[in-house]
Amino acid sequence: MHHEATLIATVAMGFVLAFVFGFAASRLRLPPLIGYLVAGVAVGPFTPGFVADAALAAQLAEMGVILLMFGVGLHFSVADLMAVRRVAIPGAIGQIVLATALGAGLAMVWGWSLGAGLVFGLSLSVASTVVLLRALEDRNALDHPNGRIAVGWLIVEDLVTVLALVLLPALSELLGGRPDPHATPGGSVLLTLGITLLKVAAFVALAVVLGPKVVPWLLKQVARTGSRELFTLSVLAIAMGIAYGSAELFGVSFALGAFFAGVVLNESEFSHRAAANSLPLQDAFAILFFVSVGMLFDPSIVVREPFAIIAVLLVIVLGKSIAALGVVVALGYPVATALTVSASLAQIGEFSFILAGLGKSAGLLPQEAFDLILAGALLSITLNPVCFAAVDMLGPRIAAVKSIRNYGARRLAALQTQLTMLRERTEAREEARSLQMKNLVDLFPIFGHLDHQAREELLVLFQPRMASPGDRVLRKGDRPDAAYFISEGAVQVDVGNRTIRLAQGEFFGEMALLSGERRSADVTAVDFCKFLTLDRRDFRTFLGRYPQLRAHVGELAAERARANRAATEAAAATS
Ligand code: CMP
Repeated sequence: MHHEATLIATVAMGFVLAFVFGFAASRLRLPPLIGYLVAGVAVGPFTPGFVADAALAAQLAEMGVILLMFGVGLHFSVADLMAVRRVAIPGAIGQIVLATALGAGLAMVWGWSLGAGLVFGLSLSVASTVVLLRALEDRNALDHPNGRIAVGWLIVEDLVTVLALVLLPALSELLGGRPDPHATPGGSVLLTLGITLLKVAAFVALAVVLGPKVVPWLLKQVARTGSRELFTLSVLAIAMGIAYGSAELFGVSFALGAFFAGVVLNESEFSHRAAANSLPLQDAFAILFFVSVGMLFDPSIVVREPFAIIAVLLVIVLGKSIAALGVVVALGYPVATALTVSASLAQIGEFSFILAGLGKSAGLLPQEAFDLILAGALLSITLNPVCFAAVDMLGPRIAAVKSIRNYGARRLAALQTQLTMLRERTEAREEARSLQMKNLVDLFPIFGHLDHQAREELLVLFQPRMASPGDRVLRKGDRPDAAYFISEGAVQVDVGNRTIRLAQGEFFGEMALLSGERRSADVTAVDFCKFLTLDRRDFRTFLGRYPQLRAHVGELAAERARANRAATEAAAATS
Protein backbone atom coordinates (compact mmCIF):
# COMPACT_ATOMS: atom_id res chain seq x y z
CA MET A 1 0.00 0.00 0.00
CA HIS A 2 3.06 2.20 0.00
CA HIS A 3 2.16 4.08 -3.15
CA GLU A 4 -0.87 5.48 -1.32
CA ALA A 5 1.16 7.02 1.47
CA THR A 6 1.12 10.52 0.03
CA LEU A 7 0.58 13.75 1.91
CA ILE A 8 -3.13 13.62 1.24
CA ALA A 9 -3.44 9.98 2.30
CA THR A 10 -1.47 10.64 5.48
CA VAL A 11 -3.43 13.72 6.43
CA ALA A 12 -6.77 12.18 5.45
CA MET A 13 -6.22 8.94 7.33
CA GLY A 14 -4.79 10.90 10.25
CA PHE A 15 -7.83 13.13 10.52
CA VAL A 16 -10.43 10.42 9.88
CA LEU A 17 -9.00 7.99 12.41
CA ALA A 18 -8.24 10.77 14.91
CA PHE A 19 -11.88 11.74 14.68
CA VAL A 20 -13.16 8.17 15.06
CA PHE A 21 -10.91 7.30 18.00
CA GLY A 22 -11.15 10.76 19.53
CA PHE A 23 -14.93 10.52 19.49
CA ALA A 24 -14.81 7.02 20.93
CA ALA A 25 -12.45 8.20 23.69
CA SER A 26 -14.71 11.06 24.63
CA ARG A 27 -17.70 8.66 24.77
CA LEU A 28 -15.64 6.64 27.21
CA ARG A 29 -15.17 9.84 29.21
CA LEU A 30 -11.48 9.98 28.33
CA PRO A 31 -9.72 13.02 26.87
CA PRO A 32 -9.90 12.85 23.03
CA LEU A 33 -6.11 13.16 23.01
CA ILE A 34 -5.94 9.45 23.88
CA GLY A 35 -7.97 8.76 20.72
CA TYR A 36 -5.56 10.80 18.58
CA LEU A 37 -2.58 8.86 19.88
CA VAL A 38 -4.37 5.56 19.26
CA ALA A 39 -5.20 6.72 15.72
CA GLY A 40 -1.48 7.30 15.22
CA VAL A 41 -0.68 3.83 16.46
CA ALA A 42 -3.26 2.45 13.99
CA VAL A 43 -1.65 4.14 10.96
CA GLY A 44 1.86 3.55 12.27
CA PRO A 45 4.33 0.99 10.97
CA PHE A 46 4.02 -1.25 14.02
CA THR A 47 0.41 -2.22 13.39
CA PRO A 48 -1.00 -4.00 10.33
CA GLY A 49 -3.03 -2.24 7.65
CA PHE A 50 -2.50 1.21 6.21
CA VAL A 51 0.89 2.69 6.95
CA ALA A 52 1.21 6.46 6.68
CA ASP A 53 4.41 8.13 5.50
CA ALA A 54 6.48 8.55 8.65
CA ALA A 55 8.74 11.25 7.22
CA LEU A 56 5.73 13.32 6.19
CA ALA A 57 4.07 12.74 9.51
CA ALA A 58 7.21 13.92 11.28
CA GLN A 59 7.11 17.20 9.35
CA LEU A 60 3.44 17.65 10.11
CA ALA A 61 4.26 16.99 13.75
CA GLU A 62 6.87 19.73 13.62
CA MET A 63 4.17 22.10 12.36
CA GLY A 64 2.02 20.94 15.23
CA VAL A 65 4.80 21.72 17.70
CA ILE A 66 5.25 25.19 16.23
CA LEU A 67 1.56 25.95 16.52
CA LEU A 68 1.32 24.40 19.99
CA MET A 69 4.20 26.51 21.26
CA PHE A 70 2.71 29.54 19.54
CA GLY A 71 -0.51 28.87 21.45
CA VAL A 72 1.45 28.54 24.70
CA GLY A 73 3.11 31.92 24.02
CA LEU A 74 -0.20 33.49 23.08
CA HIS A 75 -1.68 32.52 26.44
CA PHE A 76 1.46 33.07 28.45
CA SER A 77 0.67 35.57 31.13
CA VAL A 78 3.35 37.13 33.26
CA ALA A 79 0.67 38.49 35.61
CA ASP A 80 -0.78 35.01 36.15
CA LEU A 81 2.62 33.61 36.89
CA MET A 82 3.60 36.49 39.16
CA ALA A 83 0.46 36.10 41.28
CA VAL A 84 1.36 32.54 42.24
CA ARG A 85 5.14 32.77 41.85
CA ARG A 86 5.91 32.03 45.49
CA VAL A 87 4.51 28.56 45.25
CA ALA A 88 4.63 27.85 41.49
CA ILE A 89 8.28 28.62 40.81
CA PRO A 90 9.92 26.69 43.66
CA GLY A 91 7.22 24.05 43.40
CA ALA A 92 7.66 23.36 39.71
CA ILE A 93 11.43 23.45 39.87
CA GLY A 94 11.51 21.22 42.95
CA GLN A 95 9.16 18.77 41.33
CA ILE A 96 11.08 18.74 38.05
CA VAL A 97 14.35 18.06 39.85
CA LEU A 98 12.82 15.25 41.90
CA ALA A 99 10.97 13.66 38.99
CA THR A 100 14.02 13.95 36.74
CA ALA A 101 16.12 12.29 39.41
CA LEU A 102 13.59 9.46 39.70
CA GLY A 103 13.49 9.00 35.94
CA ALA A 104 17.25 9.15 35.65
CA GLY A 105 17.51 6.64 38.50
CA LEU A 106 15.28 4.22 36.59
CA ALA A 107 17.39 4.77 33.48
CA MET A 108 20.53 3.92 35.43
CA VAL A 109 18.96 0.70 36.65
CA TRP A 110 18.17 -0.18 33.04
CA GLY A 111 21.73 0.57 32.02
CA TRP A 112 21.05 3.64 29.84
CA SER A 113 23.51 6.51 29.56
CA LEU A 114 23.33 9.50 31.89
CA GLY A 115 22.21 11.69 28.98
CA ALA A 116 19.37 9.30 28.17
CA GLY A 117 18.42 9.23 31.84
CA LEU A 118 18.28 13.01 32.10
CA VAL A 119 16.15 13.49 28.99
CA PHE A 120 13.96 10.58 30.07
CA GLY A 121 13.52 11.99 33.56
CA LEU A 122 12.82 15.47 32.26
CA SER A 123 10.21 14.08 29.86
CA LEU A 124 8.46 12.41 32.78
CA SER A 125 8.51 15.56 34.87
CA VAL A 126 6.53 17.94 32.62
CA ALA A 127 2.75 17.69 32.48
CA SER A 128 0.44 18.28 29.54
CA THR A 129 -1.17 21.71 29.27
CA VAL A 130 -3.96 20.33 27.10
CA VAL A 131 -4.91 17.71 29.69
CA LEU A 132 -4.49 19.98 32.71
CA LEU A 133 -6.60 22.82 31.35
CA ARG A 134 -9.34 20.44 30.30
CA ALA A 135 -9.36 18.69 33.68
CA LEU A 136 -9.52 21.97 35.61
CA GLU A 137 -12.18 23.34 33.29
CA ASP A 138 -14.31 20.24 33.74
CA ARG A 139 -14.13 20.69 37.50
CA ASN A 140 -14.76 24.41 37.30
CA ALA A 141 -11.50 24.95 39.15
CA LEU A 142 -9.65 27.19 36.70
CA ASP A 143 -10.44 30.37 38.62
CA HIS A 144 -10.00 28.88 42.06
CA PRO A 145 -6.61 29.60 43.69
CA ASN A 146 -5.82 25.86 43.55
CA GLY A 147 -6.39 25.89 39.80
CA ARG A 148 -4.37 29.07 39.37
CA ILE A 149 -1.45 27.56 41.27
CA ALA A 150 -1.57 24.50 39.00
CA VAL A 151 -1.65 26.71 35.88
CA GLY A 152 1.24 28.88 37.12
CA TRP A 153 3.16 25.73 37.94
CA LEU A 154 2.61 24.53 34.41
CA ILE A 155 3.81 27.83 32.97
CA VAL A 156 7.11 27.28 34.80
CA GLU A 157 7.25 23.76 33.39
CA ASP A 158 6.63 25.17 29.90
CA LEU A 159 9.49 27.61 30.34
CA VAL A 160 11.80 24.88 31.57
CA THR A 161 10.84 22.80 28.52
CA VAL A 162 11.60 25.72 26.23
CA LEU A 163 14.97 26.13 27.89
CA ALA A 164 15.69 22.41 27.61
CA LEU A 165 14.77 22.48 23.92
CA VAL A 166 17.26 25.28 23.40
CA LEU A 167 20.08 23.70 25.37
CA LEU A 168 19.66 20.06 24.44
CA PRO A 169 21.21 20.22 20.94
CA ALA A 170 24.22 22.14 22.29
CA LEU A 171 24.69 19.74 25.20
CA SER A 172 23.89 16.60 23.25
CA GLU A 173 27.49 15.62 22.51
CA LEU A 174 28.56 16.13 26.11
CA LEU A 175 25.73 13.85 27.24
CA GLY A 176 26.79 11.12 24.84
CA GLY A 177 24.58 11.90 21.85
CA ARG A 178 25.17 13.24 18.37
CA PRO A 179 26.96 16.60 18.06
CA ASP A 180 24.93 19.71 17.43
CA PRO A 181 24.57 20.20 13.66
CA HIS A 182 24.93 23.98 14.20
CA ALA A 183 28.06 23.66 16.31
CA THR A 184 31.31 25.32 15.29
CA PRO A 185 33.54 22.56 13.96
CA GLY A 186 36.35 21.77 16.36
CA GLY A 187 34.82 23.98 19.09
CA SER A 188 34.42 22.76 22.64
CA VAL A 189 31.05 22.05 24.18
CA LEU A 190 31.38 25.18 26.28
CA LEU A 191 31.94 27.23 23.15
CA THR A 192 28.92 25.68 21.46
CA LEU A 193 26.85 26.30 24.55
CA GLY A 194 28.10 29.88 24.79
CA ILE A 195 27.30 30.55 21.16
CA THR A 196 23.85 28.99 21.53
CA LEU A 197 23.10 31.16 24.55
CA LEU A 198 24.37 34.25 22.75
CA LYS A 199 22.18 33.52 19.75
CA VAL A 200 19.19 32.94 21.99
CA ALA A 201 19.89 36.17 23.87
CA ALA A 202 20.19 38.08 20.57
CA PHE A 203 16.95 36.57 19.35
CA VAL A 204 15.10 37.24 22.60
CA ALA A 205 16.40 40.83 22.72
CA LEU A 206 15.26 41.39 19.17
CA ALA A 207 11.87 39.80 19.86
CA VAL A 208 11.37 41.81 23.04
CA VAL A 209 12.57 45.14 21.65
CA LEU A 210 11.32 45.05 18.08
CA GLY A 211 8.40 42.66 18.41
CA PRO A 212 6.06 44.85 20.48
CA LYS A 213 6.64 47.73 18.07
CA VAL A 214 6.44 46.00 14.73
CA VAL A 215 3.85 43.32 15.33
CA PRO A 216 0.98 45.45 16.72
CA TRP A 217 1.64 48.03 14.01
CA LEU A 218 1.47 45.35 11.34
CA LEU A 219 -1.70 43.87 12.80
CA LYS A 220 -3.29 47.29 12.96
CA GLN A 221 -2.59 47.84 9.29
CA VAL A 222 -4.14 44.48 8.49
CA ALA A 223 -7.12 45.11 10.79
CA ARG A 224 -7.74 48.32 8.87
CA THR A 225 -8.32 46.41 5.66
CA GLY A 226 -11.29 44.81 7.41
CA SER A 227 -10.55 41.41 5.90
CA ARG A 228 -10.88 38.63 8.45
CA GLU A 229 -9.08 36.25 6.18
CA LEU A 230 -6.08 38.55 5.83
CA PHE A 231 -6.01 39.01 9.58
CA THR A 232 -5.90 35.26 10.23
CA LEU A 233 -3.26 34.95 7.55
CA SER A 234 -1.14 37.66 9.13
CA VAL A 235 -1.29 35.88 12.50
CA LEU A 236 -0.16 32.63 10.89
CA ALA A 237 2.49 34.36 8.85
CA ILE A 238 3.86 35.95 12.01
CA ALA A 239 3.86 32.63 13.88
CA MET A 240 5.40 30.55 11.12
CA GLY A 241 7.62 33.33 9.84
CA ILE A 242 9.19 34.08 13.21
CA ALA A 243 9.55 30.35 13.98
CA TYR A 244 11.25 29.58 10.69
CA GLY A 245 13.18 32.82 10.42
CA SER A 246 14.57 32.55 13.94
CA ALA A 247 15.64 28.97 13.28
CA GLU A 248 17.41 29.98 10.06
CA LEU A 249 18.96 33.21 11.30
CA PHE A 250 19.73 32.42 14.92
CA GLY A 251 19.79 28.65 14.92
CA VAL A 252 17.27 28.62 17.80
CA SER A 253 14.59 25.95 17.75
CA PHE A 254 11.31 26.41 15.90
CA ALA A 255 9.60 25.93 19.23
CA LEU A 256 11.35 28.88 20.86
CA GLY A 257 10.69 31.12 17.86
CA ALA A 258 7.03 30.18 17.84
CA PHE A 259 6.74 30.67 21.59
CA PHE A 260 8.11 34.21 21.30
CA ALA A 261 5.90 34.96 18.31
CA GLY A 262 3.01 34.08 20.62
CA VAL A 263 4.35 36.17 23.50
CA VAL A 264 4.80 39.20 21.25
CA LEU A 265 1.28 38.88 19.89
CA ASN A 266 -0.04 38.32 23.39
CA GLU A 267 0.96 41.86 24.31
CA SER A 268 -0.99 43.47 21.48
CA GLU A 269 -4.57 44.65 21.75
CA PHE A 270 -5.46 42.13 19.05
CA SER A 271 -4.37 39.12 21.06
CA HIS A 272 -7.93 37.86 21.62
CA ARG A 273 -8.73 38.05 17.97
CA ALA A 274 -5.41 36.50 17.00
CA ALA A 275 -6.02 33.63 19.41
CA ALA A 276 -9.57 33.07 18.23
CA ASN A 277 -8.66 33.18 14.54
CA SER A 278 -5.69 30.88 14.73
CA LEU A 279 -7.29 28.38 17.09
CA PRO A 280 -8.82 26.05 14.47
CA LEU A 281 -5.48 25.69 12.73
CA GLN A 282 -3.69 25.19 16.03
CA ASP A 283 -6.18 22.45 16.85
CA ALA A 284 -5.83 20.76 13.48
CA PHE A 285 -2.06 20.63 13.60
CA ALA A 286 -1.98 19.68 17.26
CA ILE A 287 -4.14 16.68 16.33
CA LEU A 288 -1.73 15.74 13.55
CA PHE A 289 1.08 16.11 16.07
CA PHE A 290 -0.55 13.63 18.43
CA VAL A 291 -1.29 11.25 15.55
CA SER A 292 2.32 11.32 14.41
CA VAL A 293 3.56 10.74 17.95
CA GLY A 294 1.26 7.71 18.07
CA MET A 295 2.79 6.50 14.80
CA LEU A 296 6.21 6.30 16.42
CA PHE A 297 4.90 4.09 19.23
CA ASP A 298 5.61 0.40 19.17
CA PRO A 299 2.74 -1.11 21.19
CA SER A 300 4.56 -4.40 21.64
CA ILE A 301 6.38 -2.71 24.53
CA VAL A 302 3.32 -3.46 26.65
CA VAL A 303 4.05 -7.18 26.35
CA ARG A 304 7.82 -6.86 26.23
CA GLU A 305 8.34 -4.58 29.21
CA PRO A 306 5.24 -4.54 31.41
CA PHE A 307 7.24 -3.88 34.58
CA ALA A 308 9.15 -1.01 33.05
CA ILE A 309 5.83 0.56 32.09
CA ILE A 310 4.53 0.13 35.62
CA ALA A 311 7.70 1.74 36.98
CA VAL A 312 7.30 4.72 34.61
CA LEU A 313 3.66 5.05 35.57
CA LEU A 314 4.58 5.02 39.24
CA VAL A 315 7.04 7.86 38.68
CA ILE A 316 4.43 9.92 36.84
CA VAL A 317 1.42 9.25 39.02
CA LEU A 318 2.92 8.64 42.46
CA GLY A 319 6.45 10.05 42.37
CA LYS A 320 5.49 13.37 40.88
CA SER A 321 2.38 13.67 43.04
CA ILE A 322 4.22 13.00 46.25
CA ALA A 323 6.92 15.49 45.26
CA ALA A 324 4.32 18.16 44.44
CA LEU A 325 2.36 17.43 47.59
CA GLY A 326 5.47 17.74 49.72
CA VAL A 327 6.60 20.99 48.12
CA VAL A 328 3.20 22.69 48.35
CA VAL A 329 2.68 21.72 51.97
CA ALA A 330 6.26 22.69 52.83
CA LEU A 331 5.58 26.12 51.31
CA GLY A 332 2.76 26.53 53.78
CA TYR A 333 -0.35 25.90 51.66
CA PRO A 334 -3.28 23.69 52.67
CA VAL A 335 -3.27 19.98 52.01
CA ALA A 336 -6.37 20.30 49.80
CA THR A 337 -4.47 22.69 47.53
CA ALA A 338 -1.51 20.34 47.43
CA LEU A 339 -3.80 17.45 46.49
CA THR A 340 -5.45 19.33 43.61
CA VAL A 341 -2.09 20.47 42.26
CA SER A 342 -0.72 16.94 42.53
CA ALA A 343 -3.66 15.40 40.70
CA SER A 344 -3.51 18.05 37.96
CA LEU A 345 0.13 17.30 37.31
CA ALA A 346 0.03 13.52 37.60
CA GLN A 347 0.18 13.03 33.84
CA ILE A 348 2.48 13.73 30.93
CA GLY A 349 1.72 14.78 27.37
CA GLU A 350 2.81 16.98 24.53
CA PHE A 351 5.90 18.51 26.13
CA SER A 352 7.19 15.08 27.03
CA PHE A 353 6.72 14.01 23.40
CA ILE A 354 8.53 17.09 22.13
CA LEU A 355 11.43 16.53 24.52
CA ALA A 356 11.55 12.80 23.83
CA GLY A 357 11.43 13.42 20.06
CA LEU A 358 14.35 15.81 20.29
CA GLY A 359 16.23 13.42 22.59
CA LYS A 360 15.74 10.64 20.06
CA SER A 361 16.85 12.70 17.09
CA ALA A 362 19.91 13.88 19.03
CA GLY A 363 20.84 10.22 19.45
CA LEU A 364 20.38 10.37 23.22
CA LEU A 365 17.22 8.38 23.82
CA PRO A 366 16.82 4.75 22.78
CA GLN A 367 13.57 3.76 21.01
CA GLU A 368 12.59 1.85 24.11
CA ALA A 369 12.64 5.05 26.19
CA PHE A 370 10.44 6.75 23.65
CA ASP A 371 7.96 3.86 23.77
CA LEU A 372 7.96 3.94 27.56
CA ILE A 373 7.27 7.69 27.62
CA LEU A 374 4.39 7.20 25.23
CA ALA A 375 2.96 4.29 27.15
CA GLY A 376 3.34 6.37 30.32
CA ALA A 377 1.49 9.27 28.71
CA LEU A 378 -1.35 7.12 27.41
CA LEU A 379 -1.86 5.43 30.75
CA SER A 380 -1.37 8.48 32.98
CA ILE A 381 -3.81 10.57 30.96
CA THR A 382 -6.32 7.73 31.10
CA LEU A 383 -5.84 7.41 34.83
CA ASN A 384 -5.97 11.16 35.51
CA PRO A 385 -9.72 11.19 36.29
CA VAL A 386 -9.02 8.41 38.81
CA CYS A 387 -6.43 10.65 40.49
CA PHE A 388 -8.99 13.42 40.79
CA ALA A 389 -11.54 10.97 42.19
CA ALA A 390 -8.99 9.91 44.79
CA VAL A 391 -8.42 13.55 45.72
CA ASP A 392 -12.17 14.07 46.07
CA MET A 393 -12.34 11.09 48.36
CA LEU A 394 -9.34 12.11 50.45
CA GLY A 395 -10.26 15.79 50.71
CA PRO A 396 -13.17 15.52 53.17
CA ARG A 397 -11.30 12.98 55.29
CA ILE A 398 -8.40 15.34 55.66
CA ALA A 399 -10.72 18.23 56.43
CA ALA A 400 -12.07 16.12 59.28
CA VAL A 401 -8.66 15.97 60.95
CA LYS A 402 -8.54 18.96 63.25
CA SER A 403 -4.80 19.56 63.32
CA ILE A 404 -4.43 19.96 59.55
CA ARG A 405 -7.82 21.43 58.73
CA ASN A 406 -6.68 25.01 59.15
CA TYR A 407 -3.11 24.53 58.00
CA GLY A 408 -2.23 27.07 55.31
CA ALA A 409 -5.74 28.59 55.26
CA ARG A 410 -4.45 32.09 55.81
CA ARG A 411 -1.90 31.87 53.04
CA LEU A 412 -4.52 30.57 50.63
CA ALA A 413 -6.90 33.36 51.61
CA ALA A 414 -4.16 35.93 50.95
CA LEU A 415 -3.59 34.42 47.52
CA GLN A 416 -7.31 34.46 46.87
CA THR A 417 -7.43 38.20 47.62
CA GLN A 418 -4.49 38.85 45.35
CA LEU A 419 -6.05 36.84 42.51
CA THR A 420 -9.38 38.61 42.95
CA MET A 421 -7.61 41.94 42.65
CA LEU A 422 -5.86 40.78 39.52
CA ARG A 423 -9.10 39.58 38.00
CA GLU A 424 -10.84 42.82 38.87
CA ARG A 425 -8.10 44.74 37.13
CA THR A 426 -8.45 42.72 33.93
CA GLU A 427 -12.22 42.98 34.10
CA ALA A 428 -11.94 46.74 34.57
CA ARG A 429 -9.75 46.95 31.47
CA GLU A 430 -12.23 44.95 29.43
CA GLU A 431 -15.08 46.98 30.80
CA ALA A 432 -13.30 50.20 29.84
CA ARG A 433 -13.04 48.94 26.33
CA SER A 434 -16.70 47.97 26.07
CA LEU A 435 -17.62 51.28 27.66
CA GLN A 436 -15.55 52.99 25.00
CA MET A 437 -17.60 51.15 22.40
CA LYS A 438 -20.86 51.98 24.11
CA ASN A 439 -19.83 55.63 24.35
CA LEU A 440 -19.03 55.61 20.69
CA VAL A 441 -22.58 54.67 19.84
CA ASP A 442 -24.15 56.91 22.47
CA LEU A 443 -22.14 59.79 21.14
CA PHE A 444 -22.58 59.10 17.45
CA PRO A 445 -26.05 57.66 16.83
CA ILE A 446 -25.07 57.22 13.20
CA PHE A 447 -23.05 54.14 14.26
CA GLY A 448 -26.01 52.70 16.17
CA HIS A 449 -26.78 49.89 13.75
CA LEU A 450 -23.17 48.68 13.41
CA ASP A 451 -22.39 45.29 14.87
CA HIS A 452 -19.78 44.58 17.52
CA GLN A 453 -16.97 43.81 15.10
CA ALA A 454 -17.59 46.96 13.06
CA ARG A 455 -17.47 49.09 16.21
CA GLU A 456 -14.25 47.44 17.24
CA GLU A 457 -12.84 48.17 13.80
CA LEU A 458 -13.84 51.81 14.13
CA LEU A 459 -12.00 52.09 17.43
CA VAL A 460 -8.91 50.84 15.64
CA LEU A 461 -9.31 53.21 12.70
CA PHE A 462 -10.13 56.39 14.58
CA GLN A 463 -7.28 58.78 15.12
CA PRO A 464 -7.75 61.48 17.74
CA ARG A 465 -7.17 65.16 16.91
CA MET A 466 -7.68 68.31 18.92
CA ALA A 467 -8.35 71.98 18.20
CA SER A 468 -8.53 75.20 20.23
CA PRO A 469 -11.09 77.98 19.78
CA GLY A 470 -10.33 79.90 16.59
CA ASP A 471 -8.31 77.10 14.95
CA ARG A 472 -9.15 76.64 11.29
CA VAL A 473 -9.80 72.91 11.01
CA LEU A 474 -10.73 72.79 7.31
CA ARG A 475 -10.14 75.37 4.62
CA LYS A 476 -12.43 75.80 1.65
CA GLY A 477 -10.77 74.61 -1.58
CA ASP A 478 -8.28 72.26 0.15
CA ARG A 479 -7.92 68.64 -0.86
CA PRO A 480 -9.73 66.43 1.62
CA ASP A 481 -7.61 64.36 4.02
CA ALA A 482 -10.07 62.99 6.57
CA ALA A 483 -13.58 62.99 7.98
CA TYR A 484 -14.09 64.46 11.48
CA PHE A 485 -16.41 63.22 14.21
CA ILE A 486 -16.82 65.70 17.07
CA SER A 487 -16.48 63.97 20.42
CA GLU A 488 -16.13 67.20 22.42
CA GLY A 489 -16.65 70.90 21.70
CA ALA A 490 -18.19 72.59 18.66
CA VAL A 491 -17.20 74.03 15.28
CA GLN A 492 -18.57 76.58 12.92
CA VAL A 493 -19.02 75.91 9.21
CA ASP A 494 -18.77 79.01 6.99
CA VAL A 495 -20.37 78.38 3.68
CA GLY A 496 -21.32 81.34 1.47
CA ASN A 497 -22.69 83.93 3.84
CA ARG A 498 -24.10 81.40 6.27
CA THR A 499 -22.60 79.91 9.39
CA ILE A 500 -23.71 76.60 10.75
CA ARG A 501 -22.76 75.29 14.15
CA LEU A 502 -21.93 71.63 14.54
CA ALA A 503 -21.51 70.17 18.02
CA GLN A 504 -20.64 66.98 19.86
CA GLY A 505 -22.00 63.89 18.09
CA GLU A 506 -22.04 65.51 14.65
CA PHE A 507 -19.49 65.16 11.89
CA PHE A 508 -17.98 67.12 9.01
CA GLY A 509 -15.48 66.77 6.19
CA GLU A 510 -17.44 63.97 4.54
CA MET A 511 -18.67 65.88 1.48
CA ALA A 512 -15.37 66.29 -0.31
CA LEU A 513 -14.40 62.70 0.52
CA LEU A 514 -17.61 61.42 -1.04
CA SER A 515 -17.67 63.69 -4.08
CA GLY A 516 -13.93 63.59 -4.77
CA GLU A 517 -13.96 67.39 -5.01
CA ARG A 518 -12.31 70.07 -2.85
CA ARG A 519 -13.51 71.21 0.59
CA SER A 520 -16.81 73.03 0.20
CA ALA A 521 -16.51 75.27 3.27
CA ASP A 522 -14.28 76.65 6.00
CA VAL A 523 -14.62 74.91 9.34
CA THR A 524 -13.36 76.65 12.50
CA ALA A 525 -13.28 75.47 16.09
CA VAL A 526 -15.39 77.63 18.39
CA ASP A 527 -14.50 75.72 21.55
CA PHE A 528 -11.83 73.35 22.77
CA CYS A 529 -12.51 70.40 20.52
CA LYS A 530 -11.71 66.73 20.41
CA PHE A 531 -12.25 64.90 17.15
CA LEU A 532 -12.11 61.30 16.11
CA THR A 533 -10.95 61.27 12.53
CA LEU A 534 -11.03 58.69 9.79
CA ASP A 535 -8.44 59.27 7.10
CA ARG A 536 -9.48 59.29 3.47
CA ARG A 537 -8.59 55.68 2.72
CA ASP A 538 -10.12 54.30 5.92
CA PHE A 539 -13.26 56.38 5.44
CA ARG A 540 -13.77 54.97 1.96
CA THR A 541 -13.01 51.33 2.81
CA PHE A 542 -15.10 51.41 5.96
CA LEU A 543 -18.11 52.95 4.24
CA GLY A 544 -17.63 50.55 1.34
CA ARG A 545 -18.00 47.67 3.77
CA TYR A 546 -21.10 49.02 5.48
CA PRO A 547 -23.48 50.17 2.74
CA GLN A 548 -26.20 51.18 5.18
CA LEU A 549 -23.82 53.59 6.87
CA ARG A 550 -22.66 54.82 3.50
CA ALA A 551 -26.26 55.54 2.47
CA HIS A 552 -26.83 57.39 5.72
CA VAL A 553 -23.75 59.58 5.44
CA GLY A 554 -24.43 60.10 1.71
CA GLU A 555 -27.96 61.33 2.37
CA LEU A 556 -26.78 63.83 4.94
CA ALA A 557 -24.02 65.11 2.63
CA ALA A 558 -26.53 65.48 -0.21
CA GLU A 559 -28.87 67.37 2.07
CA ARG A 560 -26.07 69.74 3.12
CA ALA A 561 -25.11 70.31 -0.52
CA ARG A 562 -28.75 71.04 -1.39
CA ALA A 563 -29.07 73.52 1.47
CA ASN A 564 -25.83 75.24 0.38
CA ARG A 565 -27.02 75.45 -3.23
CA ALA A 566 -30.39 76.86 -2.17
CA ALA A 567 -28.64 79.44 0.01
CA THR A 568 -26.29 80.45 -2.80
CA GLU A 569 -29.21 80.75 -5.24
CA ALA A 570 -31.21 82.81 -2.72
CA ALA A 571 -28.21 85.06 -2.18
CA ALA A 572 -27.74 85.47 -5.94
CA ALA A 573 -31.43 86.34 -6.36
CA THR A 574 -31.36 89.09 -3.70
CA SER A 575 -28.17 90.72 -5.03
P1 CMP B 1 -16.24 69.04 3.10
O1 CMP B 1 -16.75 69.68 1.86
O2 CMP B 1 -15.35 67.87 2.98
O3 CMP B 1 -15.52 70.14 3.98
C1 CMP B 1 -16.29 71.18 4.58
C2 CMP B 1 -17.35 70.51 5.43
O4 CMP B 1 -18.30 71.37 6.02
C3 CMP B 1 -18.21 69.65 4.53
O5 CMP B 1 -17.48 68.61 4.00
C4 CMP B 1 -19.36 69.34 5.44
O6 CMP B 1 -19.03 68.33 6.31
C5 CMP B 1 -19.48 70.63 6.22
N1 CMP B 1 -20.63 71.36 5.68
C6 CMP B 1 -20.72 71.96 4.49
N2 CMP B 1 -21.95 72.49 4.35
C7 CMP B 1 -22.65 72.20 5.46
C8 CMP B 1 -23.98 72.47 5.90
N3 CMP B 1 -24.86 73.13 5.17
N4 CMP B 1 -24.34 71.99 7.11
C9 CMP B 1 -23.46 71.34 7.88
N5 CMP B 1 -22.23 71.06 7.50
C10 CMP B 1 -21.81 71.48 6.30
